[in-house]
Amino acid sequence: MSDVSTEVGNEHFRYIAERTTPEDEFLRDLKKAAAAAGIPSIWIAPEQASFMRILLKAARAREVVEVGTLAGYSAISMARALPADGHVRTIELDPKHAEFAERWIARSDVAGRVHVLRGAGMDVLPKLAADSADAAFLDADKASYPRYLTECLRIVRKGGLIMVDNAFAFGQLLDPKATDREVPAVRAFNDHMAKVRELESVIVPLGDGLWVGVKR
Ligand code: DHB
Ligand code: MG
Repeated sequence: MSDVSTEVGNEHFRYIAERTTPEDEFLRDLKKAAAAAGIPSIWIAPEQASFMRILLKAARAREVVEVGTLAGYSAISMARALPADGHVRTIELDPKHAEFAERWIARSDVAGRVHVLRGAGMDVLPKLAADSADAAFLDADKASYPRYLTECLRIVRKGGLIMVDNAFAFGQLLDPKATDREVPAVRAFNDHMAKVRELESVIVPLGDGLWVGVKR
């Protein structure tokens, strides 16, 4: 048979999660401490984090740019997939989040490999050199995704990866009664992303939907 896909539901995702290399105690503690500090619990899923590390390793990525640090979970997770001389430059607007992330990065096994750049994505990204990254991960305000993407297409080298979180719009992508105010922005971005000729891209249904594109 060709062109046949298994209809995947919640049971499959539970099955996948139960068979994914588990996250370690450090990242579990980070999430607990972040929640206690009032930081929103909007982490990427552990199986998504694992998949992103696999992609970064397969691409032999050394330099990664992230937009939206939050508490540093994904930055630390991605840094672990890089060689000893690799770096994650992660951009964070909220000083409280940046401070929390810096504290946990300093205590992590990848201290020195993750640098928090404070400011708005559209203030910081234009300062990053062209072709200076092997991969980018977008996970900040959804209305700005198209502009972040344009910048990252400049910053990421040919053959590099562009990953974007929340393609499923917090589970509300196909819900006609969607309530989250960012859902229209995600829908518009998905339609835009599908037409970006500089990327070969696909939505991977892990976590809340992960766009993965390779720059042609
Ligand atoms: C939200 C943002 C995210 O990036 C995410 O992964 C989940 C939720 C939010 O703004 O609600
Ligand atoms: Mg996200």
